[in-house]
Amino acid sequence: MTEILICRCQEITREDIRRAVEDGATTVDGVKRRTRACMGLCQGKTCERLVQGIIAELTGKSRAEILPQKSRMPVRPVKIGLLGGADDRPV
Ligand code: FES
Repeated sequence: MTEILICRCQEITREDIRRAVEDGATTVDGVKRRTRACMGLCQGKTCERLVQGIIAELTGKSRAEILPQKSRMPVRPVKIGLLGGADDRPV
């Protein structure tokens, strides 16, 4: 059987997502926790809508009923001055 790659960043297939839904995932975050889909370099920009569509198809819900993933703060360390807009040079 041909594997259909849904999340290219994390190499998650349609079958992986089907198993996650079978395991009880009903939201993009639920699939994300079980498979790591949407956690790659593009942060789901490429695959989130596909994951939503597959969940909708497998659960019989409309696409609009499937909650998208929650946004998270960046995990890369940044200087506090960059966030606040203040000049962070030492005095
Ligand atoms: S394709 Fe899924 S996180 Fe990039």
